[in-house]
Amino acid sequence: MRVTITEIKEMKQRKDRIPMLTAYDYVTAKQVDEAGVPLILVGDSLGMVMLGYESTIPVTMEEMIHHTRAVVRGAKKALVVGDMPFMTYHISLSEALYNATRFIQEGGAQAVKLEGGAVVAETVRRLVDCGIPVMGHIGLTPQSIHQLGGFKVRGKAVTEARKLLNDAAVLEEAGAFAVVLECTPAPLSGLITDRLAIPTIGIGAGPDCDGQVQVISDILGLYTDFVPKHAKQYVRLAGEIKSAVADYVSEVKSMTFPTAAQSYAMDESLIKQLKSED
Ligand code: KIV
Repeated sequence: MRVTITEIKEMKQRKDRIPMLTAYDYVTAKQVDEAGVPLILVGDSLGMVMLGYESTIPVTMEEMIHHTRAVVRGAKKALVVGDMPFMTYHISLSEALYNATRFIQEGGAQAVKLEGGAVVAETVRRLVDCGIPVMGHIGLTPQSIHQLGGFKVRGKAVTEARKLLNDAAVLEEAGAFAVVLECTPAPLSGLITDRLAIPTIGIGAGPDCDGQVQVISDILGLYTDFVPKHAKQYVRLAGEIKSAVADYVSEVKSMTFPTAAQSYAMDESLIKQLKSED
């Protein structure tokens, strides 16, 4: 049985921490799912870590649906959240509803994530009313990077901290089942977490959130263009991949790969016969 939003909310009540990771393809989603991660985000971060864009802004609905379908095929148990890309939920309520529906119907996701607080509250309410679970996302919201002026911690000053507290409350009131807090000071994240009945999922938001989310390519040391302060590399796969590929190149050149073990045999009399027909 797949994890439900009710189970995710109950985890907060039980003070059971919620691990969440991104995944973008079938193979990774399968590993993440089998390792027991209950929440998988098909993040628009795939624009950077999978597609090589400079930010999440160019990511399209088609790209997100394509990757979401692959993740859903790999993850049998985790609740899969599809990240709505830039400007696919702002232009009108009907467009937001249409695009969120695509994540659920075509992508096979069980929920969607939207960036923003009070500004998207009406949209969150409408999606939830229509039966689409929504995860909020406040603090550093990468889709607004040009407006925010860079990837900086949010909520250090009192006015912005108050705004984040209000945004979180408004999202909960609108029906969001959880809220991502990205790059917010740890004590503020703790305060927001205490004030909400729904779980907070932090990324660069300190240890007092109800859960943590990380970009899989960061924790595996796969994406090395930029390593955020909040990411811990549990393994350095980029180096391991490069070294494995270098070994392969060297073995192909020296003809030590493939050997009989990687080759297919044939009856010797048949090959002799074929040669004699020359
Ligand atoms: O796109 C993403 O991976 C995200 C996480 C950083 C929360 O939004």
